[in-house]
Amino acid sequence: MRFNFVLISCFLLVPAVLADKAGAWWDEDKGAFNYIVGSFFAPQLSGDPGSGISLWVAIDSGGCQTSDGGLTSGIVSTVTLNGTQHQGFLVWDPNSPLDFDITISTGDHIQITLNIIDPSRGSVSFVNLSNGQSVTKTFQASAALCGSEAEWMVGHGMTSGQQLSLAIFDSVSITGAAAGARGGSSYYPFGANLRVLYSGDEPGATHPAVTNTTAYSDGSLTVTYLGSQ
Ligand SMILES: *[C@@H]1O[C@H](CO)[C@@H](O)[C@H](O)[C@H]1NC(C)=O
Ligand SMILES: *[C@@H]1O[C@H](CO)[C@@H](O)[C@H](O)[C@H]1NC(C)=O
Ligand SMILES: *[C@@H]1O[C@H](CO)[C@@H](O)[C@H](O)[C@H]1NC(C)=O
Repeated sequence: MRFNFVLISCFLLVPAVLADKAGAWWDEDKGAFNYIVGSFFAPQLSGDPGSGISLWVAIDSGGCQTSDGGLTSGIVSTVTLNGTQHQGFLVWDPNSPLDFDITISTGDHIQITLNIIDPSRGSVSFVNLSNGQSVTKTFQASAALCGSEAEWMVGHGMTSGQQLSLAIFDSVSITGAAAGARGGSSYYPFGANLRVLYSGDEPGATHPAVTNTTAYSDGSLTVTYLGSQ
């Protein structure tokens, strides 16, 4: 079975702490979020070998009011001489990132769900929407989540502490995107805060946007590559 599950410590992907990301996010009251879900196709990339992108969903990315806790899970996709390769990961800040040892191929339709069971216990599920196989891992972390932020993002990946240069892609979409608290309100990309990627740290004439982000009322968002400018 290819969709087995092993956690390997420290592939050192740290997209969660990167400012360089494009997508949709909600910043609400504490407790607004205890789950988030999103699906995507593992993307076909081009560009220089070693460049890449990452797609992820997260709760409290960048920490919350009361602790450094933040839970992020997704894939990092990189350009290699043999095509695009994909690696699943999860990060519960401030702990080290972990790899999901699942063999993801370009075009695989993957759904990722984060569930917060209590502030320092959560589960991450990867479902292969093409064949229904899933893996769920429940784990505990020292830093509590407060459930005030939820996001669906596309951004740079990092390996071994180095930010990967952005690979070239047409567009990538996250569909079936929803977040909220069980029994509470639901939130979708449409109506959320949106952000795009810039060629530098700050937007401006010398750092034009390299992506555009559009959120649709069907629970999806698309990040379009505009060119490296
Ligand atoms: C590319 O794939 C071939 C055949 O599977 C393998 O022999 C080769 O080592 C791979 N090259 C790289 C750079 O991964
Ligand atoms: C997902 O399912 C498809 C269809 O069975 C299969 O080709 C692919 O390898 C699977 N991917 C993963 C990550 O299990
Ligand atoms: C970016 O997307 C918005 C819709 O979300 C659209 O109105 C705008 O024209 C797009 N901009 C570019 C440069 O493609």
